[in-house]
Amino acid sequence: MADLLSKIKERARAAHRTIVLCEGEDKRVVEAAARVTAEGIAKIVLIGNKAECEKVAPGVDLTGVTLIDPDTSEKTEEYAKILYELRKAKGMTEEEALRQAHDRTMFGALMLKNGDVDGYVSGACHSTANTLRPGLQVVKTAPGTKLVSSCFVLVAPEGGNAFAPDGALVFGDCALNICPSAEEIAEIAMSSAETARSIAGLDPAVAMLSFSSHGSGNDKKYQDTVTKMQQAVEIVKERAPGLKVDGELQFDSAIVPKVAAVKAPSSSVAGHANVLIFPDINAGNIGYKIAERLGGFMAFGPICQGFAKPLNDLSRGCCTEDIVATVAITALQAK
Ligand SMILES: CC(C)(COP(=O)(O)OP(=O)(O)OC[C@H]1O[C@@H](n2cnc3c(N)ncnc32)[C@H](O)[C@@H]1OP(=O)(O)O)[C@@H](O)C(=O)NCCC(=O)NCCS
Repeated sequence: MADLLSKIKERARAAHRTIVLCEGEDKRVVEAAARVTAEGIAKIVLIGNKAECEKVAPGVDLTGVTLIDPDTSEKTEEYAKILYELRKAKGMTEEEALRQAHDRTMFGALMLKNGDVDGYVSGACHSTANTLRPGLQVVKTAPGTKLVSSCFVLVAPEGGNAFAPDGALVFGDCALNICPSAEEIAEIAMSSAETARSIAGLDPAVAMLSFSSHGSGNDKKYQDTVTKMQQAVEIVKERAPGLKVDGELQFDSAIVPKVAAVKAPSSSVAGHANVLIFPDINAGNIGYKIAERLGGFMAFGPICQGFAKPLNDLSRGCCTEDIVATVAITALQAK
């Protein structure tokens, strides 16, 4: 983890990005803003005001951090107009747009939409839905993608793990899409493969996970949960012909070479998959937490993928260092 994180920070420094942190009312966020700036990882725009930051994080040096308060900023009206244009077809009035533009997460999303920052990080004191909804509504998805999804980078414990020979695995989607369709699973797989490549430095080999390997599970009542993963493989093969992908595969068939040799001998991915795609959020969320708590892996994320510009959500239980790491990842995602 330490190694991967220091490489990510190093690359972020070289990228010279500007990231907005929306929650200047939170001590951890103010501390992270100062630390990111002092370490040169990115330029920070912090949404908040001086008095408030000094109150929640006394003594923290914010030299070099740009503070913006939507209640006094001259940009708020301009952003309200942008929001109104984007949402009027959905019934938004100009009054409502102006009201929403004062909201700090919406203000941050509008800064990103308008190109005033390169990335957005929030969620230390807001729910996932409240953190991502402004982005979903105004930043929208990247060209060629219909879905915003998420993944975790799981970094092997010190001493390594035989089933993660490159030191990390990527799990998706464990946090955002609740019950994805075959088409959506395919999108999650392609985006997770890209995150595996660009953030974790892996050469992606994608396994679509199931309780069944290559048709071994033949429960008629729940067959659609298996066919969904098989269909997703076909969609990925068609849309990303260069990407290594196979499924449906059980977790052990996906990562254990001896099991793969028995259960999926014809597969070019089974036994050494490093991007593991789960059939729904139940499996994914439980799965990454088992790897983290019982397997000793360090979970890094959720990393959002598929947005037109990078937005990331923090856990409300995050610490200052988690925010610094998320800012660095967000800086790397900026194009
Ligand atoms: C992602 C999530 C927050 C979106 O919920 P929401 O705000 O209620 O979303 P809505 O259905 O109101 O959609 C808002 C907009 O975002 C779009 N949208 C929603 N999810 C999307 C996705 N995954 N990808 C792309 N667009 C999406 C909708 O199309 C809609 O666009 P529109 O208003 O322009 O028509 C929701 O799926 C969720 O809560 N997921 C689970 C999160 C969670 O609890 N995780 C726990 C573990 S960390």
